[in-house]
Amino acid sequence: MALLPLHYFFVFNDSMQPVSSFVPSENEGGIYEVLRVVDGIPLFLEDHLDRFYASAEIAGKIIRFSEIQIENLLNQLIEYNEVKTGNILISCKNNLKAFFIAHNYPTPEMIKNGVSCGILKAERENPNAKVFQTTVRQQANQLIEENGFYEVLLVDGEARITEGSRSNVFFVKDNFLFTPPAGEVLLGITRQKVLDLAIKNDLKYSEEDILLRDISSFDAVFLSGTSPKILPVNKIENFFYNTQNSVVTKLIESYESLIMRYISDKKNR
Ligand code: PDD
Repeated sequence: MALLPLHYFFVFNDSMQPVSSFVPSENEGGIYEVLRVVDGIPLFLEDHLDRFYASAEIAGKIIRFSEIQIENLLNQLIEYNEVKTGNILISCKNNLKAFFIAHNYPTPEMIKNGVSCGILKAERENPNAKVFQTTVRQQANQLIEENGFYEVLLVDGEARITEGSRSNVFFVKDNFLFTPPAGEVLLGITRQKVLDLAIKNDLKYSEEDILLRDISSFDAVFLSGTSPKILPVNKIENFFYNTQNSVVTKLIESYESLIMRYISDKKNR
């Protein structure tokens, strides 16, 4: 993850500072959130802040700022930098920092044709907390770079697929969605939105263990996350999947509508 601030200003505790004064520091063990700015609005901000406080509790950190204070700081960050689109990293180790980071959104071709994923044997400690864990990140980055994968799926000691290195994963069979259990993964904001949309679209879902050896039995696979949104997977190692699956297409459309509704509600407040 690029951890240098883009644009002109970043948040340091309760003040706005020029990026020229940014001092990179050791993040390991600190907690963080990555949220997406769409049309100048921080998307699903309430969910991200809830998870930020929850991560702090799990990691034994104290955030000295209230939800309203952080919201105001983020709005200032967006205004000062005059940026309408991008990703913001909010982190807390000893100080609260928030800044725009480089983002990498899928291209229309990737959404249409799907992306390829590799497999990485690795487990995140405290999977429910969003904590910087350099080793898993570095291993994932290396595998992604060497093989041209979009993402790697993490496989635990019992050969279960848990999640992507920065996304959650769903498997589709007929009208049924399968995703690894909540206790084993980061509770992705997008993951929860997918589960909510599944109910609205009369799809059934199950949160259950997915064994690596069973992955060939599914019709389709997709990733969910702040940057990928809902992104079809065309290949996991040597297994290929349909990227035009109607369940996945329906979820992509519903998710886009959900984003549009959120943004217009915020603008009309
Ligand atoms: N990562 N699982 C892991 C391990 C993640 O790091 C992330 C997000 C997700 C998806 O969560 P969400 O839907 O809330 O983005 C799942 C962020 C974006 C990152 O590290 O860049």
